[in-house]
Amino acid sequence: MLAIQGATAASGRLLLARLCSAGCLAARPACGSFVTPQRQRQCGSTPQRGTCCSAAAHPPPVLAAEPPPKKKLAVFVSGGGSNFKAIQAAIAEGSVHGEVAVVVSNAPSCGGAEFARAHGIPVITYPAPKSDPAAGLTAEQLVQQLTQDFHVDFVILAGYLKLIPSQLCRAFRRRILNIHPGLLPSFGGKGYYGIKVHQAVIASGARFSGPTIHFVDEEYDTGPILAQAVVPVYPTDRPEQLAARVLKQEHALYPRCVAALCDNRVTWRADGIPIMWSAE
Ligand code: GRF
Repeated sequence: MLAIQGATAASGRLLLARLCSAGCLAARPACGSFVTPQRQRQCGSTPQRGTCCSAAAHPPPVLAAEPPPKKKLAVFVSGGGSNFKAIQAAIAEGSVHGEVAVVVSNAPSCGGAEFARAHGIPVITYPAPKSDPAAGLTAEQLVQQLTQDFHVDFVILAGYLKLIPSQLCRAFRRRILNIHPGLLPSFGGKGYYGIKVHQAVIASGARFSGPTIHFVDEEYDTGPILAQAVVPVYPTDRPEQLAARVLKQEHALYPRCVAALCDNRVTWRADGIPIMWSAE
């Protein structure tokens, strides 16, 4: 067990925490900093002698009357959209307290965009194809639609191959996530996408690889890392085999990170490193 002080924006109280495999922290707030209905029953108005719940130390908790509204997500896709589908499945089963309000794509007939339409999710095109500038949004229009029309809380890049415009980075500071199929900061940057990442990993002789979830800044693959998962790289691997092994981890890790965002379980260290807290 590792004791961490003051790492939660909400309470600043002492937390008992342990590290999970993806690099997130499982946190147990000190008594009174979080109150569930069950806990309120345990910690009611007649405190027991010798328990932690003296009325003087713990004023009666105030409970929200209803759960907080679901966070609205904009998912950006350029390809098959298997990560988008994994997030959508997690939403459907209730582990992500959010909803996909809109899908953004530079390739409006890609698999991810088709999946969105099949599920009644609107699809907008950004950027417009060079051959037909009227067929898509400008960066300003994109920001306006996401903020004012769709009221988006978080932007989730799921295999989106275009650079994010600086206007969007500014409007959604610390609110844009990306998934990269390698262990950043290695094997990232312009030109490192898709199978090229796995080819480079194998060529390097690295023994481990895996997905990285990171916040997005105005460069390719340089924003603060939120979580990673690790898979072995075997000496006989072909890039496609490694890609499949990494993708399986992507589908587990990305929904967990999106769930943490939607639950406000991501806090920021003073030096700009994000910390993901477990729901436990
Ligand atoms: C994933 O490997 C992801 O890491 C990368 O692009 C790929 C997208 O795959 N950014 P999919 O469209 O989610 O299937």
